[in-house]
Amino acid sequence: MPRPLRVAIVGAGPAGIYAADALLKSEAAVEPGVSIDIFERMPAPFGLIRYGVAPDHPRIKGIITALHQVLDKPQVRLFGNVDYPGDISLDELRSFYDAVIFSTGATADRALTIPGVDLDGSFGAADFVSWYDGHPDVPRTWPLDAEKVAVLGVGNVALDVARILAKTADELLPTEIPANVYDGLKANKALEVHVFGRRGPAQAKFSPMELRELDHSPTIEVIVNPEDIDYDDGSIAERRGNKQTDMVAKTLENWAIRDIGDRPHKLFLHFFESPSEILGEDGKVVGLRTERTELDGTGNVKGTGRFTDWDVQSVYRAVGYLSDELPKLPWDVETGTVPDEGGRVIDAGGPMQSTYVTGWIRRGPIGLIGHTKGDANETVANLLADHAAGRLGTPASPEPAAVEDFLAERSVRYTTWEGWYRLDAAEKALGEPQGRARVKIVEREEMLDASGA
Ligand SMILES: Cc1cc2nc3c(=O)[nH]c(=O)nc-3n(C[C@H](O)[C@H](O)[C@H](O)COP(=O)(O)OP(=O)(O)OC[C@H]3O[C@@H](n4cnc5c(N)ncnc54)[C@H](O)[C@@H]3O)c2cc1C
Ligand SMILES: NC(=O)c1ccc[n+]([C@@H]2O[C@H](COP(=O)([O-])OP(=O)(O)OC[C@H]3O[C@@H](n4cnc5c(N)ncnc54)[C@H](OP(=O)(O)O)[C@@H]3O)[C@@H](O)[C@H]2O)c1
Repeated sequence: MPRPLRVAIVGAGPAGIYAADALLKSEAAVEPGVSIDIFERMPAPFGLIRYGVAPDHPRIKGIITALHQVLDKPQVRLFGNVDYPGDISLDELRSFYDAVIFSTGATADRALTIPGVDLDGSFGAADFVSWYDGHPDVPRTWPLDAEKVAVLGVGNVALDVARILAKTADELLPTEIPANVYDGLKANKALEVHVFGRRGPAQAKFSPMELRELDHSPTIEVIVNPEDIDYDDGSIAERRGNKQTDMVAKTLENWAIRDIGDRPHKLFLHFFESPSEILGEDGKVVGLRTERTELDGTGNVKGTGRFTDWDVQSVYRAVGYLSDELPKLPWDVETGTVPDEGGRVIDAGGPMQSTYVTGWIRRGPIGLIGHTKGDANETVANLLADHAAGRLGTPASPEPAAVEDFLAERSVRYTTWEGWYRLDAAEKALGEPQGRARVKIVEREEMLDASGA
């Protein structure tokens, strides 16, 4: 009798879960069926929705509810707290599954190579995000003793970081932030947050809604210097071709011409200032040097040789995320992604048998949660085409119990989808007495205990 197609997905972020959804909605799911196991190194699923999306964005975090419907399906199992390749290798995955999809996303900061990045007080945005989002693998405390702070980059992560630094702890208290994050933010001394873009308002990567949201906090005064509003032909073309770019530019223009109010925390959005050095004394950040840039006609910029030193005591680098290289898979150092064609992993000899990628590990760390869906659909379509053409390998032990036995033999303390419901209930119960929807559990051991791993 034909057995279901067995697929392993490594990484339970949105890309991996959408890949499972695409498999479940495919014709293959009808007969002889599909059977999907999702491996996730964290005890809880949902990737950057849980450990990236800012706590004051509950609507986006709510996407988790839609993803529940996929993980609720009987054809899908979750094995949380299982690391690739630490707990299960590629060869081992191949011995259990017809195909393996990697959707391991991105967790680190892209390097910024300017002098001073290693000074005390120079932080990667990804580390700070992990801290305020209660990631178990980062320290429980965060030094927030700087009164003036710089944030480098003008993307949505920079906005998140700047907003969290500029808001008060009490504004964030109704969210899911754990107690250690609330206590850390309570001690935050930041009064000025300076965000730096190396290009102009038409080149900012902000989403219009996220940008406007900055102005909604009663404690944040957003300030834009009118001298930073400048466009060349390239910028004008960009504005004409992209409604979002135009909306961002319009918002910044409005902010540049209005009177400055008296909200206590000043958040400056600077443009045409390219970071050239983080200045230090006794190993600590004491300033930031930027070079003024100007547009070159194409929307790009060139340096002017004019430098400014900014009095800041900490610097957050929000210049993009970076994926971790996956052992046994080819790697493109330049893009920080696994080389692929349509989601099929490509090594020197062509497509690697039965091996696929989707999400940020495939496309790089750009794009919203929803964008990972189209990506997953393409990867799964190609996987199923390979299946139909008989190009997949044959696993030695395809029966579902085999992998459970394997993990038990390895003494891997794994969590399950039922375990997520228990953790979810425990976090909601923690929030209830304070009238909050949820309070996150941070410690890995506590997460495992609450999940009944
Ligand atoms: C700070 C931040 C805030 C964001 N906010 C928003 C927002 O508000 N709205 C929006 O639409 N988009 C937002 N995004 C973008 C969104 O998070 C991404 O588009 C999306 O999460 C990418 O999905 P993914 O599944 O590819 O990766 P991820 O979400 O990173 O998921 C990858 C998963 O793989 C797991 N994993 C990694 N390595 C291994 C391994 N070796 N073994 C096992 N498991 C592994 C990880 O733990 C993780 O759970 C934000 C991104 C960042 C960085
Ligand atoms: N609320 C949300 O919807 C939300 C929240 C967070 C993240 N996200 C999404 O997640 C993705 C990643 O966001 P991101 O902010 O990490 O990346 P991003 O959008 O690519 O922004 C990175 C920023 O860093 C700048 N930068 C890069 N290298 C630099 C350097 N050497 N010096 C100075 N500046 C430099 C870039 O400027 P240049 O353009 O000049 O290179 C850009 O302004 C995006 O798609 C984003 O929309 C969404």
